[in-house]
This record gives sequence, structure tokens and C-alpha cells, in this order.
Amino acid sequence: GAGAEPYVPSSRSLKTLSTAAEECQGCELYRNATQTVFGSGSRQARILLLGEQPGDQEDREGLPFIGPAGRVLDRALARVGIEEPDVYRTNAVKHFRWKPAPGGGKRRIHQPPTQEQISACRPWLLAELDAVRPDVIVVLGGSAGKSLFGSAFRVGEARGTVRTWSGIHVVVTIHPSAVLRADDREGAFEGFVADLRTAAEVMK
Ligand code: URA
Ligand code: SF4
Repeated sequence: GAGAEPYVPSSRSLKTLSTAAEECQGCELYRNATQTVFGSGSRQARILLLGEQPGDQEDREGLPFIGPAGRVLDRALARVGIEEPDVYRTNAVKHFRWKPAPGGGKRRIHQPPTQEQISACRPWLLAELDAVRPDVIVVLGGSAGKSLFGSAFRVGEARGTVRTWSGIHVVVTIHPSAVLRADDREGAFEGFVADLRTAAEVMK
């Protein structure tokens, strides 16, 4: 496919958008995934959390951030007092990219999306942003940042800063799965919480 554009309806109803996204063949990722995982939450949400792509569990169940990374995210949101009706969760890429575990096991190993796949899927994100028009976008890791700011984006120097994208505040932080992979998980979690607190302050 040559990108999601032809599949995206002009409607800004989230229901209409997510139903249409089920049929997307804008890149090759639909082939090996179970289903499209569209964003989830209210169009009234003031904060949009932008991840990379659905993980294994999200791919099976069809909702973003319901697996281990989602639990880290939920704990951090609770810590800073960001409540459910204010939250819209989505990903830069709407299909799970994976490869089989070496040795022929059943396990599916996450692979990061390419810049081409991130760009192909971007029209869905733009439609979601147009529908929700949040006060703040939280960029969770490099792939999310590349979707908004282009292929040169790196989390490193951008982390914790407040910038803008198309008139919307943006706070950059690490991906919650990086918290789970850190040697010092507690320290990594506290840093993640601090960045979400910055986002909560921007929301007010
Ligand atoms: N990681 C993400 O980036 N998004 C999800 O929905 C789940 C895990
Ligand atoms: Fe369409 Fe995005 Fe899925 Fe590619 S990853 S098929 S562009 S929804």
C-alpha cells in the first residue's frame, strides 16, 4: 500500500474512523497482524498518549495499552492524578509488527516499525488529533516522536521539555516498556512519572 490516506474518511467521528481503520491496507503490516488497534478514549480527552504500535496482547484483544506497558502507564497516570475521561490512548502505527521467535517457537517478537510504516499510518493519527484536539500530546518514545516530528527525532535531548506541534503542547518521554527493561526500574519509573506530571501541569 501507499499509505493510509485513501482509507481515511472525512468524518471526525471516532467511531466512524475506527470502523474504517479495520479495512486499512495502507502498508504491509495488516497482513501479519490479527486486527487494527485503533485509539481508545473520549473525544473530550484533554491528553493524548501516543505510543509506538500495539503489542502482542493489544493485537489479540484490539485495544491499545492493555498489556504490560499499559499497566506501567496506568500506574503513572494514577500517580499524577490524570483521570480516565481525560485520556485518549493511541499509537503511531495501528498494526503489530513482529517476527517469529528464533527456533520456531510460537512467541512473537516485537519489531519497531520503519519510518516508511510510521509515515504510511500517519493519516490515521492526524484524523484522531483532529477529532480529539487535546490540550497536550505525550510522546511515548522514539517512534511516536518520529511520527510527529520526522525521522531525525530522538527522545534524548527532547525528553521532559514542552514543545508544540500544530498549536498543541507536546511533552516527550520514554516508552513505558523502556521502564520495564531498565536495570533500575524504580528510578526509570520515577523519571517517567515526573514527565507525566509535566504533562498534567500543561493540561491545566
Ligand atoms: N506499546 C505501545 O506502544 N502501544 C501499545 O498499545 C502497547 C504497547
Ligand atoms: Fe494501515 Fe497503519 Fe495498519 Fe499500515 S499499520 S495497514 S497504514 S492501519
